[in-house]
Amino acid sequence: WPLGTSIGPDGLCVAGVSANELATRFGTPVYVLAEDEVRRRCRAYRTALPEVEVAYAGKSLTCKAVLRWVAEEGLSLDVCSAGELAVARSVGFPATRILMHGNVKTPEDLKAALAYEVDRIVVDSLDEIAQLGALARYPQRVLVRVTPGVDGHTHKAITTGVDNQKFGFPLSGGAAAEAVAAVLAQPSLRLAGLHCHIGSQVSTVAGYEEAARRMVTFMGQIRDTHGIVLRELDLGGGHAVPYLPGEPTFDLTGYAQRVRVAVSYTAATVGLPVPHLTIEPGRAVVAPAGITLYRVVTVKNGFVAVDGGMSDNMRVALYGAKYCVRLAGRQSNAPLRTVTVVGRHCEAGDVIAEDVPLPTDVHAGDLLAVPMTGAYHHSLASNYNQVCRPPIVAVRDGQSRLLVRRETEDDLLARDLG
Ligand code: LLP
Repeated sequence: WPLGTSIGPDGLCVAGVSANELATRFGTPVYVLAEDEVRRRCRAYRTALPEVEVAYAGKSLTCKAVLRWVAEEGLSLDVCSAGELAVARSVGFPATRILMHGNVKTPEDLKAALAYEVDRIVVDSLDEIAQLGALARYPQRVLVRVTPGVDGHTHKAITTGVDNQKFGFPLSGGAAAEAVAAVLAQPSLRLAGLHCHIGSQVSTVAGYEEAARRMVTFMGQIRDTHGIVLRELDLGGGHAVPYLPGEPTFDLTGYAQRVRVAVSYTAATVGLPVPHLTIEPGRAVVAPAGITLYRVVTVKNGFVAVDGGMSDNMRVALYGAKYCVRLAGRQSNAPLRTVTVVGRHCEAGDVIAEDVPLPTDVHAGDLLAVPMTGAYHHSLASNYNQVCRPPIVAVRDGQSRLLVRRETEDDLLARDLG
């Protein structure tokens, strides 16, 4: 739960605003976001890693207000499409603090990045290097995305540091070296450094340490081959958050210390200056600041069915993700029983949380809260079954503010030309 969340006789209260009030005012389902928690997490990164550039991974949650907050907290931004860049541009996010990513960047993505003069583009294929080389009119700074062959030991769908997946250029077999040569051959590109991202929801530090060692060693090889010293190393994001009580929290202090040592020791060993580091956390900045509120519609066949589902939380269906659920609109002294909370969509796999304890007196009309929903919920939301996507409401100091309004049937119909 975000800091400042309490459970009183009237139920859950987040940053001084009660769940009942939020549900009445904004309807359900609703994504609630504790602004101070987002800001506190930005600051924790800046404090733990003052010499490191922290680029918020916008794919985890992009909307104007969140991008403003992270900009105000001094973070940079990683965007992975022209669409994310459009939101960044609309709030005047400084281009000097933006990187663009993606294994597929369309010509529109690349043109948008060049037009806004984003500081770095992380190149991900030889085709992209050629295309960007042809499009760029002035030396565009690029990082080469390298697959270091390190397993972050996370879910298969979000493992990206090993060979045989679609991201980056593998170190093994020479593809990364080939990409470096390809960038150096393009007069309109300037190779600023290297990038890697070993995966998402990675809970241990060892994989990052090993990736850092391999990347710096590769920088030494680039110096030996091409006579250039690369100054920048981006170690990606992926820092895990605990979705359930008792799950480990990512050891940010340990990460800072061990990655620093791995980078500086390897740099000294190969005789390079210590590169300037960038990291790209997304989930760890916003997930714990988010809570989704649902209204129970029926309790039937042993299931508690709510008014949202896989259209606002894809993570259960995609990754078998686990969540906890809490009665949010009142207190109950009834005994607990284990139930599965399901959604409104026409699929048996439309589950919010499997086998969770809830009071036996939970009934239609009750409010339920699901914590840890700030990252990859709104950004993965869909219109499945033509269900309108929920709003995002910010809470702070007893006040609530609508950041993104609920989608309407008019929104749905506006794109359908008949
Ligand atoms: N940098 C790059 C290049 C990435 O691909 C990602 C995430 C990040 C940074 C940020 O990772 P984070 O710190 O948020 O873990 N939909 C999945 C997660 C997909 C992550 C994709 N890339 C989920 O809900 O678990």
